[in-house]
Amino acid sequence: MRIVDIIEKKKNKEPLTEEEIKFWIQGVSKDTIADYQTSALLMAIRLNGMDDYETAKLAEAMMYSGDVMDLSDIEGIKADKHSTGGVGDKTSISLSAMVAACGLKIAKMSGRGLGHTGGTLDKLESIEGFNISLTEEEFKKQVNEIGIAIIGQTGDLVPADKKIYALRDVTATVDSIPLIASSIMSKKLASGSDTILLDVKYGEGAFMKTVEDAKKLARAMISIGNSLGRNTMAMITDMNQPLGNTIGNALEVEEAVQTVLGQGPEDFTELCLCAGEIMLVQGGVTSSKDQARKMLEEAISSGRAFEKLVQMVDYQGGNVEQIKDTSLLPQSKYQTEIKSLESGYIANINSMELGILATLLGAGRAEKDDPINYAVGLRMNVKKGDQVEKGHVLCRVHHDSDLDDQWIQRFYKAISYSDEPVERIPVVEEILE
Ligand code: URA
Repeated sequence: MRIVDIIEKKKNKEPLTEEEIKFWIQGVSKDTIADYQTSALLMAIRLNGMDDYETAKLAEAMMYSGDVMDLSDIEGIKADKHSTGGVGDKTSISLSAMVAACGLKIAKMSGRGLGHTGGTLDKLESIEGFNISLTEEEFKKQVNEIGIAIIGQTGDLVPADKKIYALRDVTATVDSIPLIASSIMSKKLASGSDTILLDVKYGEGAFMKTVEDAKKLARAMISIGNSLGRNTMAMITDMNQPLGNTIGNALEVEEAVQTVLGQGPEDFTELCLCAGEIMLVQGGVTSSKDQARKMLEEAISSGRAFEKLVQMVDYQGGNVEQIKDTSLLPQSKYQTEIKSLESGYIANINSMELGILATLLGAGRAEKDDPINYAVGLRMNVKKGDQVEKGHVLCRVHHDSDLDDQWIQRFYKAISYSDEPVERIPVVEEILE
C-alpha cells in the first residue's frame, strides 16, 4: 500500500477503506509517513469529506494508536461528558458532583484551556493543592470508593491525534467535521467510559458557528460512539454568550460551588440539570428523565451534591476550606466595575471576545507553558435580553495589573444593544440521541 495512492483516492472524492485508514494512522504513529503527505491527505479530507463509515474507522484507528484505558476494575457504569469548548464552561465540575451524588460513576479525564476557552484542569488547580495527576491505580481506587475523580490525561492516549492536530493547526484543516469528530471521539473512546454525553456548542464563542453545523458534528460523533458500542448522545447548546456569569478559574470554581448548592445562575443550572438527566438515564440509574431531574434536584437541595464535590476535592488533596468558604479561593488585587454607556436591551455578548479578554488578564495562556493567574477574570452582570439603563454595571473585572484603555474599549465593543426587546434563547437548543 502507498500513501500517495490513498491521497489520490481522497483527492478524487472516493471513500477510503478501513485498511487504507489504518495504514495511514499506523504510519503517522510510527513516523513512517512524512508530515507533508499527511498534510496533503488532511486537506483532501477537509475538502472532500468522509462518510460515517470512514469517520468511525478513522476514530477507531486513532483510538488504538496508543494506550486504551481499561476501567473494568471500577464497578458499575462509568459515564463521561465532553464539551466541545466554551467560555465560562465550568459544567464538568458541578455536573460530575451532581450525578455522582445520584450514584453514577464519574471517571473523568479533562483538559486544559485552549485559545479563548478555559479548561477544567486549570479551574480545579485554582483550589490549593488539588492534584490532577493521579496514577491509573489511584484514579480507579478513588472512583470505586467515592464514585468520582477528575484528572488530567494519564498514559499515552491517542498519540496519533497529537501529531495530526499539530499539523491541522498549521495547514488550515482544523475546521473539518470528520477530523474534529474523530479527534474528539478517539480520545473519549480511549478513556474507557461506557456512556458518553457530548455538549456540542454553537455560536460566536464555539468551534461550530451555527446550529446546523453543531448538529452535523454531533451526529458524526454519535455515529462513531454508537458504532463502537458506546451509548452516545449529544446536546446542542448556545455559546452566543458566556455560560453562567463568570469567566476565569477561581471565579468559575466559586460559581460551580454555588450551582451545586442550588444558588447558581439560571442558564448554567439548567444546562447541568438537562445534562444530568441524560447521563442518569444513559447510565441506567433511572429510566425516566423526569425521575432523573427529581433525583438531581434532591441531591442539590439536600447538600449531597455539595458534599460529593467536597469529598472529591479532599481525596485529590485540595483545600476543602476554599470550597466551604469560596472567599478563601485566590483573590485578585483589584476589582473594577464597568458601567453601561447606553440604555437599551442587551442584544449580543461576544463570548469569544470576552474569553480573549479574560486570557489577556492572565486567566488563560498565550503560549503552551505560560503560567495562569487563577484569581483574575470577569464577573458578568448582564445576559442577552436584559434591559439596562446607562450606568448599569455590566461587569466586575477582577485584575492584578492596571486595566488599560484598549482593554476597556474592547470590552465595550463586545456588548451590543437594541432599542427593541431581545428574545432570550434557551441554553439547550436540542438533544440528539
Ligand atoms: N477538540 C479536539 O480535541 N479536537 C478537535 O479537532 C477540535 C476540538
